[in-house]
Amino acid sequence: MFSHLEPLPADPILGLSALFKADTNPEKVDLGVGVYKTAEGNTPIMRSIQEAFNRLAKTEGSKVYIAPTGWPGFTDAALDLSLGAPLVHALEGQLGAIQTPGGCGALRLGFELVNHAAPGTTVWVSNPTWANHVPTLKAAGLDSKVYRYYDRATTSIDIEGMLEDLKGAKAGDLVLLHASCHNPTGADLNDDEWDRVIELIGERGLVPFLDMAYQGFAQGLEADAGPLRRAFEKLPEAVLSYSCSKNFGLYRERTGALVVKSQGKDAAKALTTNLARIARENYSMPPSHGAALMTTVMQDEALRADWVAELGEMRDRVNTLRRTLADSLTQKGYGEQFGAVGRQTGMFSLLNLTPEQVASVQKDKSIYFPANGRINVAGLTEANIPYVADAIAGVM
Ligand code: LMR
Repeated sequence: MFSHLEPLPADPILGLSALFKADTNPEKVDLGVGVYKTAEGNTPIMRSIQEAFNRLAKTEGSKVYIAPTGWPGFTDAALDLSLGAPLVHALEGQLGAIQTPGGCGALRLGFELVNHAAPGTTVWVSNPTWANHVPTLKAAGLDSKVYRYYDRATTSIDIEGMLEDLKGAKAGDLVLLHASCHNPTGADLNDDEWDRVIELIGERGLVPFLDMAYQGFAQGLEADAGPLRRAFEKLPEAVLSYSCSKNFGLYRERTGALVVKSQGKDAAKALTTNLARIARENYSMPPSHGAALMTTVMQDEALRADWVAELGEMRDRVNTLRRTLADSLTQKGYGEQFGAVGRQTGMFSLLNLTPEQVASVQKDKSIYFPANGRINVAGLTEANIPYVADAIAGVM
């Protein structure tokens, strides 16, 4: 049965970690997988999460199964953060929600629900998009088409191209959107552009699927949620995949949520029970630990305030690093190619480099990032920016 299987190439993002680890160059720099790092190169456990962990160690008392929909209070906490209490209240009866194994689990479950409700639906994805989006939707039985998004030549969003392409979508198609901190480009729509996209989705009878993996890393928790909230408020149907990996630093705990809005009969119950059934057929129920930590933080005023403060420190640090790299490259005469890095948001920017230039920076300077030129800005430090900027300038 298995003898014909061939070994597969490494994942374009995750595969870089092993290569980086094996590299003995003391100057090596890891700008690969999207994780937050300190100046010392650590990905810390956030203070509030550590305190929640200490409390939970004393109180949890059992490892018996949790419900298929997740840890008690978790989806309410995720809804409160993402959609906000007033909108959740206004949409009462229209929202189904379930805890998922990370944001990736939420995407897969969401795509499976779509395929269950409308088999073979076409999903429109941005060009470019996160490397795992298309494989995940295809594995769930869906098809994909691309809409123009980022114009490498101008290092800005091609909003007119995006709208023109989406005009070619047919009613019932899904439009996958990055709620904030677009991965891999770091280029987000402005408010006016979001309004135009949401309006078009409404006019054409399309369904938005918002992937929110970086809430709090662009402008702040509330501002980053603005477009998502407008979509859920204005459109009859919408889907949200939510990840706590980055903003709670819970990466390996696989903590996420899927939220779906519909106006069908008994919508909330129909959505939640169908999601629970699909989850049961896949993995029964999600892991509890990360959700228990997140819920503990969100339900305790002091812990929540400390979490908001630490997330703000992380956001400010990443923004400072991006500006420092952009300034450094501008001083070397490459402002036109790389100045946008300083204006973009979130963990990533897409450098205007060819796969050959990326390979040469990796081989000669031990700086690791995917072949499409995406860098994890959080992997930069005040100390390694001059080295990285020299290396990039060196291949121009
Ligand atoms: C990334 O884009 O680097 C992260 O979302 C991690 C991953 O799973 O790819």
